Amino acid sequence: MRIVFVGPPGAGKGTQAKIICSKNHIPQVSTGDMLRAAKANGLLPADLVARMDQGGLVPDEVVIDLIGRRTSEEDAANGFLLDGFPRTVPQAEALSELLEKRGTKLDVVLALDVPEELLVERAIFRRTDKRTGQVYHLKYNPPPSDAELEHRKDDQEDVVRNRVRVYQAMTSALLPFYAERGLLVQVDGVGSVDEVTHRVLAALEKV
Ligand code: AP5
Ligand code: MG
Repeated sequence: MRIVFVGPPGAGKGTQAKIICSKNHIPQVSTGDMLRAAKANGLLPADLVARMDQGGLVPDEVVIDLIGRRTSEEDAANGFLLDGFPRTVPQAEALSELLEKRGTKLDVVLALDVPEELLVERAIFRRTDKRTGQVYHLKYNPPPSDAELEHRKDDQEDVVRNRVRVYQAMTSALLPFYAERGLLVQVDGVGSVDEVTHRVLAALEKV
């Protein structure tokens, strides 16, 4: 299956993506994770680091190139889940073109729906164990006492609110874009991780 997860910051894309990918044996392709890895290795230019830290988007061509290369790797031959890409209409158009050239297409675009106050709460209390990459939440999924916790720089409240604005301005246009193409399924992202997973699985069964 070729799945796209769309949703505002903190909606639970990464959390649900990991579960769906392990059930379906497909790779989770997160442009945010790829960009953070490049940043950690000193490979991301300073102006792009600044954009990410302030909650803005990096240029379309940067992420289109990343996705083109990652989805052509062997483990993605039978499907993948894109988590956080596309995020603009030009990125969505580039993705359609890329897949068309390969004679494939998307199966479904799942949009996670979560109100802003819950997004902010989910993001500002998120912590990642830097040794294992495991994502925790201080309130909903507390980390073990020996975890080496990292707090994402863009998870400060003012930056999260800016990311929500950027989502509304740039990314929410993907909902009508994919609805017109008959690919959009909206999923209520409020509730426990398990509840949301059940809704996502039910949506995928209908594809
Ligand atoms: P990215 O890393 O993709 O960030 P994002 O889209 O803002 O989303 P998040 O990762 O913050 O949230 P999520 O939906 O994955 O939530 P999670 O599951 O972790 O992008 C970062 C930056 O990179 C962008 O701002 C931009 O600069 C750049 N970038 C990336 N892609 C780009 C693109 N295509 N174009 C241009 N620029 C790009 O959950 C959040 C927390 O909530 C966790 O603690 C989790 O444990 C908890 N949680 C999740 N679900 C539940 C639940 N149901 N109940 C309780 N807690 C929950
Ligand atoms: Mg994520």
